[in-house]
Amino acid sequence: MLKTIIAAVLLVLGACAGINHLPEGDSPGAQLVREKCTVCHGQPHPTRHTAPEWGHYIALMETHMKTKGIAFSSEEKEIVLDYLQRNASK
Ligand code: HEC
Repeated sequence: MLKTIIAAVLLVLGACAGINHLPEGDSPGAQLVREKCTVCHGQPHPTRHTAPEWGHYIALMETHMKTKGIAFSSEEKEIVLDYLQRNASK
C-alpha cells in the first residue's frame, strides 16, 4: 500500500517537473516566462515556436497585457523575447 502511494506521488512530481521544465531554468528569461506568461494561459515552452514567430507573439502578448493592465516593461519584453528566440524551435 505504502509503495503504491510513494509510486503515485513520484509519478505526479515527475509529471509536474516535466511540464515546468524550461531551458536555462534559473535565467532571468525563464523566470519572467514563469511569472508573466502564466497569468492568462499555461506556461509557453520556447520550442513551441520559431524565433520569427516569437517576435510576432510577444508583440501580440504585449497588447493583451496592456489591455488587462498587466505591467510588462520594455526591459522585461526584451529579456523574454531574447530568451524565447535563443531557445526557439529551429
Ligand atoms: C493578458 C493575458 C496574457 C498574458 C499575460 C500572456 N498571454 Fe499569451 N495569449 C493570450 C491570449 C488571449 C491568447 C490567445 C490568442 C490571442 O487571442 O491572441 C494567447 C496566446 C498565446 C500564444 C499562441 C498560442 C500558443 O499557445 O502557441 C503564445 C505563443 C503566447 N500566448 C505566448 C505568451 C508569452 C510568451 C507570454 C509572456 C510574455 C504570454 N503569452 C502572456 C493572453 C495572454
